[in-house]
Amino acid sequence: MKILAIESSCDETAAAVVEDGRKVLSSIVASQVEEHRLYGGVVPEIASRRHAEAITPVVKQALTQADVTLAQLDAIAVTHAPGLIGALLVGVNFAKGLSLSTGLPLVPTHHLRSHIASNYISNPELKPPFLCLVVSGGHSHIVMVEDYTKMKIIGKTRDDAAGEAFDKAARTMGMPYPGGIELDKAAQDGDPHAFKLPRPVVHDAPYDFSFSGLKTAVINLIHNSAQKGQELNKADVCASFRYAVVDCLSTNFIKAAEDLGATKLVIAGGVSANRLLRQTLSEECQKRGWQFYMPEKSLCGDNAAMVGSQGYYEYLSGNIADTDLNAYATMSIEC
Ligand code: KG4
Ligand code: ZN
Repeated sequence: MKILAIESSCDETAAAVVEDGRKVLSSIVASQVEEHRLYGGVVPEIASRRHAEAITPVVKQALTQADVTLAQLDAIAVTHAPGLIGALLVGVNFAKGLSLSTGLPLVPTHHLRSHIASNYISNPELKPPFLCLVVSGGHSHIVMVEDYTKMKIIGKTRDDAAGEAFDKAARTMGMPYPGGIELDKAAQDGDPHAFKLPRPVVHDAPYDFSFSGLKTAVINLIHNSAQKGQELNKADVCASFRYAVVDCLSTNFIKAAEDLGATKLVIAGGVSANRLLRQTLSEECQKRGWQFYMPEKSLCGDNAAMVGSQGYYEYLSGNIADTDLNAYATMSIEC
């Protein structure tokens, strides 16, 4: 079964053709990041306009690269939630138009479920159930993936997402948007124990996260030293901050797995590209004899191949939309 998948939830316009949920026949990603970088973050109105310009050529390119015609497709999957509403609407309306004109079924797909599905592409043997840490620019969740379309939230952030905290700390150090990747690179040469940063815990919810206090602590550290005219070692600040975020994420994730008796652990989302997070969880799982899966780095960020993968399982579960499908800025992964 061949699915054309479309993604436009944030600042990447993407299209892909995926066969049977696991085989990527094509994957095109047009990134707007250079333009948003001028403003230090995503400007929603600019994102919508650029999606509207890019969507037709990106979809055409995906079909050409896959060597597939519209007549050879079996369904169209599209990200309909969560994300920037104006950006999502571009993909949803394009997909609706294409579905109406071709008669192909329209499959609404949740963005975070798609991030999880990137693992089905990178790890062909992976099947639910498993416990997944979904960490992106907008979300930080621990999710029990009971089946391909049945999920339960075990823990989540009470304030900032991990990616957001990385980006804001990086911006304070003068790194370009999205700073998470730059901060990760700079941290490789630093000492993770150079600065003592807090490990915020949520008292009544042991699997929940809180990153805003940690983010404020590193921003204060940078501002205070600037005011005193002291020069901080940037690599050491990056390494200490990365270590603190990864410590919070991995401690709660491992604890949740132990308490729930889960022995198959998976990570997903933009932050799953983080080198220390990948290394720490690989080692922690290996120590315990658990299985550990992660997406290949090229599939950690936003793309449409993962939408084609999740869309396949949504289609099999009967999740087909009418032409009145809408986009939603927020929607629980449990749905
Ligand atoms: O999943 P994603 O591409 O978009 C959303 O759905 O939000 O995640 C983007 C986030 C950004 O905050 C970016 O800085 C972060 O993922 N990110 C990283 C790394 N690569 C991307 N954060 C830390 N380390 C990385 N290597
Ligand atoms: Zn994403």
